[in-house]
Amino acid sequence: KKVDINLGQLEKGGFPHFMLKEIFEQPECLTNCMRGRVNVDTDNVVLSAVIDYKKQLLDANRFIIVACGTSWHAGLIGKQMIEQLCRIPVEVEYASEFRYRNPVITSKDVVIAISQSGETADTLAAIQLAKEHGAFIYGICNAIGSSIPRATDTGSYIHVGPEIGVASTKAFTGQVTVLTMLALALAKEKGTISTENYMHVVKELHEIPNKIKTVLQLNDRIADLSRTFTYARNFLYLGRGFSYPVALEGALKLKEISYIHAEGYPAAEMKHGPIALIDSDMPVVVIATHNAMYEKVLSNIQEVKARKGKVIAIVSHDDNTISKIADEVIELPDTIECLEPLLTTIPLQLLAYHVAVCKGLDVDQPRNLAKSVTVE
Ligand code: G6P
Repeated sequence: KKVDINLGQLEKGGFPHFMLKEIFEQPECLTNCMRGRVNVDTDNVVLSAVIDYKKQLLDANRFIIVACGTSWHAGLIGKQMIEQLCRIPVEVEYASEFRYRNPVITSKDVVIAISQSGETADTLAAIQLAKEHGAFIYGICNAIGSSIPRATDTGSYIHVGPEIGVASTKAFTGQVTVLTMLALALAKEKGTISTENYMHVVKELHEIPNKIKTVLQLNDRIADLSRTFTYARNFLYLGRGFSYPVALEGALKLKEISYIHAEGYPAAEMKHGPIALIDSDMPVVVIATHNAMYEKVLSNIQEVKARKGKVIAIVSHDDNTISKIADEVIELPDTIECLEPLLTTIPLQLLAYHVAVCKGLDVDQPRNLAKSVTVE
C-alpha cells in the first residue's frame, strides 16, 4: 500500500506554517536555552563565557551592542537589563550605521554582537571594525559554528534550534533570555544586585516557559480578533520602558508578513507626531501591563480613545480599568517588569501571524525578505 507523506508538512510538526510552529515552540526553546545555565535550586545563573572572561567583562567601561532587525530589538531590551542590573553603560547600534561612522571604540569596550544566523554581513563587518580597535567581542548567536561566533572572542549560543520562518520569533525570545542571564551573572560578579533581587529574578526567569504556555492558549482568541483588523492600512504600536522595544518588534513582525505599514513608538512620543494620524480607522496596539509606567500608559490610551482610535491593549490578568476603555484586551500572566518582554512579545507575534494568514499571504516566505542577509 502506498502511503503519501508530505515532507514539508512533517517538518512543520502539524502546524500550517513554520512561523506558527516556532511561536509554539518557545516554551521548550527557552527551557533549552536556560538548561545548565539557570539553576533554581541553587539560585544561580552560570554562563561559561562569564566564568572564562570575567576580567574582560567586568573591566569594561561600556558595552556596545551591534545587531540588525529583530536582533537589534533584543539588544534594546538587553541595554535596559544590563544598565539596570549591572550599572554598566550600554549603547545599541545598528551594525550598518556603526561600521561606516568611524565610531569611538577603545580596548575598554566590550562589543556584544547579536545575530540569529551568525551570517549577517553588516554585523560581521561591525565586529571586524571593533576588533581592529582592540575591543573584546561577545557573540549571542543561534546558528552553531556560523561566521559570527567564529569571529568573536567568546559568547553564548541561544540554543533555540534552527529557525526557518523568515520572521524571527523564537530567536528573539532566546536572545532576550541570554541577555537576561548575562545581566544576572555580571550583576552578581559586580555586586550591583541584592541577593534578594537576584534570587527573585532567577526564580521568575525559570517560570517564564510555563507562563508562555499560558499565553499561547490565547491563540484562538487572537486569531479571532485578527480578522477584524485585516482592513487596516496602518498600525501603531506603543509601549514604554521595557515595552518600547516590544512595540518596535510587534510593528516589525506585522510589516514583514502582513505588508501593513506599522510603526512602533515610545508611548509618550505619540504626542510629538503620530497622534496626528489617529482616527477611527487606526488600530493602536498598546502594551499596558501592570508596572511602574501603568498610569502613564493608561493616559496614552485615553488620548487614543479621545480621537476614536481602535485600541488593542496587552494587559495584566487582573486589569479592570483598561478592559473598560480598550476595544480589545489581551490578558497576560504577571511577571516582573524586566521579564515582561518575554511574555508581551508572544501575542504580538500571534497577531502578526493571524492578520497575514487572514489576508492569504505567504507567512513563511514574505516578499522581498531574506532569512539571512549576507550582502550589504
Ligand atoms: C533579516 C531577517 C530578520 C533578522 C535580521 C538580522 O532581516 O529577516 O529576521 O532579524 O536579518 O538577522 P540576524 O541573523 O543577524 O539576527
